Amino acid sequence: MSKTPRKIIIDTDPGQDDAAALFLALGSPIELDLLGVTTVAGNVPLPLTSKNARIVCEWANAADTKVFAGCDTPMKRPLVTAEHVHGKTGLDGPDLLPDPKMALQDQHAVDFIIDTLRREPAGTVTLCTLGPLTNIGTAFQNAPDIIERVQEIVMMGGAYFEVGNITPAAEFNIYVDPEAADIVFKSGIRIVMMPLDVTHKALTTKPRIQAMRDLGTPAGIAMAEMLDFFERFDIEKYGSEGGPLHDPCTIAYLLKPDLFQGRLVNVMIETQSDLTLGMTVADYWGVTDRAPNAMFMTEIDADAFFTLLLERLARL
Ligand code: BDR
Ligand code: CA
Repeated sequence: MSKTPRKIIIDTDPGQDDAAALFLALGSPIELDLLGVTTVAGNVPLPLTSKNARIVCEWANAADTKVFAGCDTPMKRPLVTAEHVHGKTGLDGPDLLPDPKMALQDQHAVDFIIDTLRREPAGTVTLCTLGPLTNIGTAFQNAPDIIERVQEIVMMGGAYFEVGNITPAAEFNIYVDPEAADIVFKSGIRIVMMPLDVTHKALTTKPRIQAMRDLGTPAGIAMAEMLDFFERFDIEKYGSEGGPLHDPCTIAYLLKPDLFQGRLVNVMIETQSDLTLGMTVADYWGVTDRAPNAMFMTEIDADAFFTLLLERLARL
């Protein structure tokens, strides 16, 4: 008997690796029912992330996807962006980015998240977050009744042993809006975290990118061109063989959880210290009596992950 697809909302700030996550989800309609894509300011400002999300949907032949623009600034701080990683557009790589034809939905992303969680049966909608947690934190603050209705949050964010990529202590998504992250980590919802500790093991290599290009489809070619650009930054920075493909780890977990291994631990967010703002303080060794609130992933079967991504990219 076939299972009903799992209902998800993807909250995102595209970003080349966000694009990979959207492709993976859009190529997996049997397993995932994508109720909507909500955009947030992060890698680049909101008008660009909202445009980029639609460009990616069109590359994926999925122009009927509902895209909602959300918050343009973090809950309590000025926005920090990452053009140094993703380029001026956020999706640098292809020579020319098309102008999307599909329109944004009229509703604000935060209202869409609230309405959807109130409308769907409790415990049936998963939030999959690929950017700063501003939309989710704001929705939980404005409508606390929805918190207990969330099935699970699967997020790309944080780091512990691998420490920071935007400051010495903090990972970008959490650093940009630590107050929103704090709300989410204190919500009591089951959280699955894809921190840098695991995403730095999902490296784009030349053969992996070439296999995407060889698909010869708009999505495959665009993905390869974006990743050619994206990996140069991390290869220079870390001396690694490729760039870490962070965000699709979340979707891959929804499709094949066995690709990942981790530990259920307590994670708290630093919101006070200038030095370590946005740090995800993980009690990995159980040295406190704080209750576990997050499945902190550290291991990935990278070959199987890239095989899955390629297989789903080929369906678009
Ligand atoms: C995260 O930050 C962004 O630059 C990426 O899209 C990813 O979500 C990695 O720290
Ligand atoms: Ca992202």
